[in-house]
Amino acid sequence: MTNSDSRGMPVSYPRNDPIRALEAAHEKALSFVGAPVDEMVAVLEEYPDFVMGHCFVAGMLTQAMETRIYGDMVRHLEAAEALAGQANDRERGHIKAIRAWVSGDFHAAVEAWDAVLVEYPLDLLALQLAHLSDVLLGDTVNQRDRVARVFPAWDENVPGYGYVLGFYAFGLEENRDYSQAEEYGRRAVALNPKDGYSIHAVAHVMEMQGRQAGGIWWMNSREKDWATSNFANHLWWHLSLYHLDLGQVDRVLEIHDSNLRSADPSHEKYEELDSTALLWRLKLMDVDVGDRWRQLADRWEPSAADTLYAFNDVHAMMTFAADNRRGAIEAVMNANERYLDDANDANVAMTRIVGMPFSRAIVAFCEGRYGDVVDLLLPIRYRSQYLGGSHAQRDIIAWTLLEAALRARRYKLALALANERTQLKPSSPQNWNLTARALRGMGDVAAAERAEACAHSIRRN
Ligand SMILES: [Fe+2]
Repeated sequence: MTNSDSRGMPVSYPRNDPIRALEAAHEKALSFVGAPVDEMVAVLEEYPDFVMGHCFVAGMLTQAMETRIYGDMVRHLEAAEALAGQANDRERGHIKAIRAWVSGDFHAAVEAWDAVLVEYPLDLLALQLAHLSDVLLGDTVNQRDRVARVFPAWDENVPGYGYVLGFYAFGLEENRDYSQAEEYGRRAVALNPKDGYSIHAVAHVMEMQGRQAGGIWWMNSREKDWATSNFANHLWWHLSLYHLDLGQVDRVLEIHDSNLRSADPSHEKYEELDSTALLWRLKLMDVDVGDRWRQLADRWEPSAADTLYAFNDVHAMMTFAADNRRGAIEAVMNANERYLDDANDANVAMTRIVGMPFSRAIVAFCEGRYGDVVDLLLPIRYRSQYLGGSHAQRDIIAWTLLEAALRARRYKLALALANERTQLKPSSPQNWNLTARALRGMGDVAAAERAEACAHSIRRN
C-alpha cells in the first residue's frame, strides 16, 4: 500500500501515525530543536518495520561526523536494508545513499540523494542531507545548484518551503551572491522567525561583507529565536566574529565563556569546533586566553585519533598545539599518517590535500616556526575548500598564513595577502591592522599610519 507525506512524497508504510511522527521529528531537525533522532528511535521501537523512519535516523546520523554514533547509524541502515524488499524507489534511494556514506564514499552518497531529488524534488529529507553534506564536503557550487535544481518545484504552499529558502540562501552566500542570498534568507526568517539556518545564512552575508554593527543587531535582536536551539553555539560563534573584527575582545571572551564552554558531558563536536575556531583567532591576535586551551584540549583528547573528518582533526590539532600537549599532537599525526596509508574513503583527499599540511602548519605556528607555516599554507590556501565548512570558517587558514608571514618578517608577501583581504572586505578593522603591520615592517610608516587610521575610523563609527 502506498502512503504519502504532507508534500505528497510516497511512503511505503501503511500506518499514518508513524509517518506523522516522522514529519514532526523532521521539522525539529530542520529547525534545530529538541531531540528528533531520539524521538524517532522511540517511534521505531513501536513500528520496527517503518523503513523511512530508519532512513531518517541513519541519514541524520551521517551528519554527526563522529565515531561514537557509528554503531547506531549502521544498525538503522541495516534495519532499513532488511526491509528494502517492501520499500519504494524513493526509500531505496535513501538506503543506497546511507550505505555509500557508511562505506566512506561521501560523494556517492550525495549522488544517490541527488538521484532521489531528480525524481522527487519535494523530498525535503534528501535535499537537507545532500545540502548539509555539500557543506561538510566543501562542494561550494552544489550548495547553491543542488537547491536550484529543485527550487521551482517549491512555493509557499508546500510545507517546509522556508527551509528550502534557507538552504538556497546559504548556497548563494557561499557563491558570493550576497544580495540574493540576503533576500532569500530574510524571506525565510519572515516566514518563520525561529528558522536558525536562515538566520545563519544572513549572518554569513553580513560576515562576508564586513557589516559588523548590522550583524550584531541582526543576531542580538533575534536572540530569543535562536539562543535555545541546537544551532546556538555556532550562532554565538558568528556573533563573536563581529565583535572580534571590532577588537572587542572582552565581549568575545564573555560570549565564549557563557555559551561555547558548556559542561555538557556529551562532548558535542560542533561546540568544540566553534570554541577552538574562536580561541585560535584570539591566538592570532596575541590575546592571552588563560587556561581555556587546557580545558578545551581535555574535551578533544578522547577523539584525538578519530581521523573521520579532516575538518575535525585540524581543530583538534589547534587545541593540542596551543596547549603544547605533545602526546595528543603525536596521536593526531600518527593516526592521520596511518589512515592515509590504509584508507581510500572520501576523507583521504581532504586529509591529504588540506588536513595534514594545515595540521603541520598549526604545530609549526605554536613552535614559532613561522617561515615553515608560510611554506606549508601558501600552496594550499586556494584548495582549502576541500576541508569542508564555510568561507567564514576556512578564513582561519588565510589569517594564520598572513599572521605567520608577518611574524616571519616576510612583509611584502604579508602586504599582498593583507591587500587581498582589504579588497574583499574593506570595512574590516582587523584587515586594516594587518595591512598596517605589513607596511610598517616594510618601513612605509606614512602608509601604515593611513591604514591604522582606516581601522580606527571604522571602529569609531
Ligand atoms: Fe556558519
